[in-house]
Amino acid sequence: MTTWPTGVRGLAWGADHNPEQWPESVWAEDVALMRRAGVNLVSVGIFSWALIEVEEGRYEFGWLDRALDRLHEGGVRVDLATATASPPPWLTTAYPEVLPETAGGVRLSHGSRQSYCPSSGVYREKAVALARALAERYREHPALAAWHVGNEYGCHVSRCFCDRCAVAFRAWLRARYGDLEPLNEAWGTAFWSQRYGSWEQVLPPRATPSLGNPGQLLDFDRFSSDALLELFTAERDVLREVTPGVPVTTNFMVTWTFGALDYWRWAAEVDFVSNDHYTRAEDPERHVELAFSADLVRGLAGGRPWLLMEHSTSAVNWQRRNLAKEPGELRRNSFQHVARGADGTLFFQWRQSRAGAERYHSAMVPHAGPDTRVFREVERVGAEYARLAELVGSTVEASVALVYDWQSRWALGQPAHPTADFSYQDHALALYRALWRAGVTVDFVPPGADLSGYAAAVLPALYLVDDATPYERYVEGGGRLLVTYLSGITDGRGHVHLGGYPGAFRELLGVRTEEFHPLGEGAAVALDDGSTARVWTEDLRTEGAEVLASYADGPLAGVPAVTRNDRGDGAAWYLACGLTGDGLDRLVRGVLAHAGVPRGPEGVEVVRRRGERAGAPVSWLVAVNHGGGDAELPAAGVELLSGERVTGRVVVPAGGVVVVRGEV
Ligand code: GAL
Repeated sequence: MTTWPTGVRGLAWGADHNPEQWPESVWAEDVALMRRAGVNLVSVGIFSWALIEVEEGRYEFGWLDRALDRLHEGGVRVDLATATASPPPWLTTAYPEVLPETAGGVRLSHGSRQSYCPSSGVYREKAVALARALAERYREHPALAAWHVGNEYGCHVSRCFCDRCAVAFRAWLRARYGDLEPLNEAWGTAFWSQRYGSWEQVLPPRATPSLGNPGQLLDFDRFSSDALLELFTAERDVLREVTPGVPVTTNFMVTWTFGALDYWRWAAEVDFVSNDHYTRAEDPERHVELAFSADLVRGLAGGRPWLLMEHSTSAVNWQRRNLAKEPGELRRNSFQHVARGADGTLFFQWRQSRAGAERYHSAMVPHAGPDTRVFREVERVGAEYARLAELVGSTVEASVALVYDWQSRWALGQPAHPTADFSYQDHALALYRALWRAGVTVDFVPPGADLSGYAAAVLPALYLVDDATPYERYVEGGGRLLVTYLSGITDGRGHVHLGGYPGAFRELLGVRTEEFHPLGEGAAVALDDGSTARVWTEDLRTEGAEVLASYADGPLAGVPAVTRNDRGDGAAWYLACGLTGDGLDRLVRGVLAHAGVPRGPEGVEVVRRRGERAGAPVSWLVAVNHGGGDAELPAAGVELLSGERVTGRVVVPAGGVVVVRGEV
């Protein structure tokens, strides 16, 4: 199986390229500028269904032939889209069933993009037919490097509630439960008279007078992720049949928006993992959130190289205030992804559109043309990437694991939990920030993964847990495990584990909580070690664990807030409250010290990739300085961007980047 876009030399570098938005007279300049910028891979045709299949069954490939030929002549490889992300108006007009429906029964119109229902047989048939037509047309095209199926599945329409989805949901439930009785049991339908007596009564969780059923909501999330995945695999299978040597991907979006897909399941189905990431311009720590995304993508890729399919050179157009990136920021962003295992980074998009909803979104070639700061920065990074080809195929070294679970995220995102102030994603990110500030590299792993290779592991709010045995074994074998509140509370169906919280983890952690005590809006509680908790506290008793900190004030004064339970050769910490800033840093650093994990340097982001060069093991230290002052690091070898020898120390300039190849 081919697991990387073919024929791309060195790190991949390029963008979404939408030649259909421009007269052909612009295309020659495009390719000339791509060469100047060192572009070697572009994604073509993602939103061009209406221009390829101009009416039902009538294909016009001429323009695409010419665009691909020209790219090939320019030495640019093509990640060719199946163009199915945006059904054309002729399709949804002729077959309104293709259009998705909201929980409130509103049918969404064409006129934007992604206006399709995942359960529409017509959509699937037409999408697969288009994928086949493209595969047959371009199977021998010399520019074809990879297939790009759909685009960001679930980005706009991640859940559809129409009658077709009701039928598909029932089929999915039958496969899961076999019978109605286990479904009634799993959903707890004895509550509020919801018992189902026949399959026809079972519906998607449509708009209801009050709170919906948590089991139904959770299963609908699972179903919806699977339903979209089936669309992807239907196209993928045709592509694999017609062009077996061409790898297939679809671009994930692992951190932003609502986490609609269970990417652990998706990652198993792509030939290589690709991801889109956009920073939140007004977040002063946006580079840390970027690092989180990149590490999570590497986890999905199973540690193998992955591709950043999209980010932006500067401003986007969909935030409330679309701030331009700072000079040097697109470079730092690009190198951060490479540091964390990307073997290439692409942008949305090549040339800034002059019409359409995204005309104020930045691109490699801005409205103002190539004589711009943005294009000069693009050229610079393109030239630098050309010096880093030796990194391709190397892997990232990490000593700490973070267990990330989309299904717990869905469950905790449902209404009617003890507080609306808790966000799974923010919580996981807060823990990640503490690890990032400690300078350690983190691998993301799925629930139940083997943790034995990691000195320490973190479980942020792992809510849905049938069985804590893998974590018990990890700790007994010497692992250091930090478990946070809202972990182990329910089984996989969302049924609460009885006998006290945190349910499945009580024994491992040596604690028992009688009652949750979420805090009021903006409220804070002091701990006796000087730290502060917000959002969450709980009334906890130890049952064997050692108390590391207790509440110093409030209704729970004297109650343990942070504990550690030594077990076997390892130890398990329980964080029972929403510890903030410094307090969280201290806790995380304490766990790392206990595990013997060395801390990285302060103030500069450092990641090590390891691989081989001329048969000998080498490593590359990639350092990104997000601060305003120069930083110094111990290093020896060759700094690849300048070509200079490094003997003992290397300076990472303010806002800059270094890549040092070392012998070990
Ligand atoms: C992504 C999408 C691109 C473009 C981009 C703008 O979600 O895949 O097509 O819309 O956002 O930031």
